[in-house]
Amino acid sequence: MGAIAALILAAGKGTRMKSDLLKVMHPLGGHPMIEYPVAAAREAGASRIVIVTGHQSDSVRSYFCGSKDIAFAHQAEQLGTGHAVASARQSLAGFSGRILILCGDVPLLKPQTLQKAIACHAGSSAAVTVLTAQQDNPYGYGRIVKDAGGNILRIVEEKEANDAERKIREINSGIYCVESEFLFDAISRLSNNNVQGEYYLTDIVQLAAEEGLPCVAFSVVDPNELMGVNDRIQLAAAAALLRKEVNEALMSDGVTIIDPCNTYIDKGVKIGRDTTIHPNVHINGMTEIGANCTVESSVSIKDCRIGKGVIIRTGSVLANALLHDAVAVGPMAHLRPGTELMKDVRIGNFVETKKAQIGEGSKASHLTYLGDVTIGKGVNIGCGTITCNYDGINKHRTIIEDNVFVGSDVQLIAPVTIGRNALIAAGSTVTKDVPPDSLAIARTPQVNKEGWKLKK
Ligand code: UD1
Ligand code: CA
Repeated sequence: MGAIAALILAAGKGTRMKSDLLKVMHPLGGHPMIEYPVAAAREAGASRIVIVTGHQSDSVRSYFCGSKDIAFAHQAEQLGTGHAVASARQSLAGFSGRILILCGDVPLLKPQTLQKAIACHAGSSAAVTVLTAQQDNPYGYGRIVKDAGGNILRIVEEKEANDAERKIREINSGIYCVESEFLFDAISRLSNNNVQGEYYLTDIVQLAAEEGLPCVAFSVVDPNELMGVNDRIQLAAAAALLRKEVNEALMSDGVTIIDPCNTYIDKGVKIGRDTTIHPNVHINGMTEIGANCTVESSVSIKDCRIGKGVIIRTGSVLANALLHDAVAVGPMAHLRPGTELMKDVRIGNFVETKKAQIGEGSKASHLTYLGDVTIGKGVNIGCGTITCNYDGINKHRTIIEDNVFVGSDVQLIAPVTIGRNALIAAGSTVTKDVPPDSLAIARTPQVNKEGWKLKK
């Protein structure tokens, strides 16, 4: 089908967002909005991608800095979408194939739809193929004006449209497939003689029509795919549509989602079959969850890897943690980065872990802080245990070997090692290493003063 390049327009500030963050960097489904058109272009076979940046160009450039297939063109002043394309002329010098033009703020377009549009363009003699859709509420979009034969004559912006044109429900998505030779010739002939004083990319359609070059509409069945995100209301609407798509894909693969409207899972999260997700759960980032797990309500999980048969109870917060099979966590546990829980570990309510490796079958069931710690197998951590890892300047590690029993209300002053099979008496403040198989007791002996109350 010949070489394809993609141009992604993202120089606009996104004034209607009323934000300090560039519009196309606003997160949608856990990824900056611009990642979606980039992914669609790649999947549709674009061998090179040029992103046109302007406002806050550094944020976009640094986000994609590792991507070898992406180049950047700078549009210093935002003089319109046509001017944005002109800014990329140098970046595409010598390229003679087809050019896809995508908008950084149209994130829901499916790669398959783009592929079909390219195939349609390739099978026609069109100079320009415009992706269009019938919108019930076309307000704000450019409208497609066609001749009797279905060829596009021109695209009229909302602000320029007369009453009859405003009634047209077929809208311009801002996504096009264009022959490169025609594109850059047409771009050089655009004028900014319009309401906004901008160089409109949409005017290339009229230029083609005037030269007798066919312009074809590729009608997209689901208008939601072409939704533009210009303000926070549209951002929320797009997020809801994406969420529905993500949740439905997971449910189709055998995940039970009790209330999909109130379950927030980022695109790219993987979840195994027969896992149940309760309402108001957030699963973000690069998280992977195995089969047969239960995630109870109001749990937040970010960038975690979770094995099979794990239960995460209500109100727990997990980030950058690795949980092996059959682990139980919560309710209201906090697993922080660097936590690794081996098989059958139990972490109960109000337990916080950080840089904590906890061995198979070990338990910390209540009210405990475990930071900078390595815990062996079969260890019991009593209620109220604290690893005192921070001396005000440095962090120190605690090592607790296999089968240790730590009684309730114990402070372990790191660095300290508790040898295997030792027992720490409740209420102890442990400042010295404890040898294996021994009892450590470090608390003030109790004094009973008999009759003391009677004398008062
Ligand atoms: C544009 C289309 C409109 C279409 C709509 C679809 C034009 C003139 N209008 O309108 O027909 O229905 O998209 O969503 O093309 N941009 C630049 N440089 C600029 C101006 C814009 O890079 O100088 C980028 C923006 O960052 C954005 C995209 O182009 O990603 C579209 O610009 P925007 O201002 O949102 O255009 P719309 O008014 O939505
Ligand atoms: Ca827009």
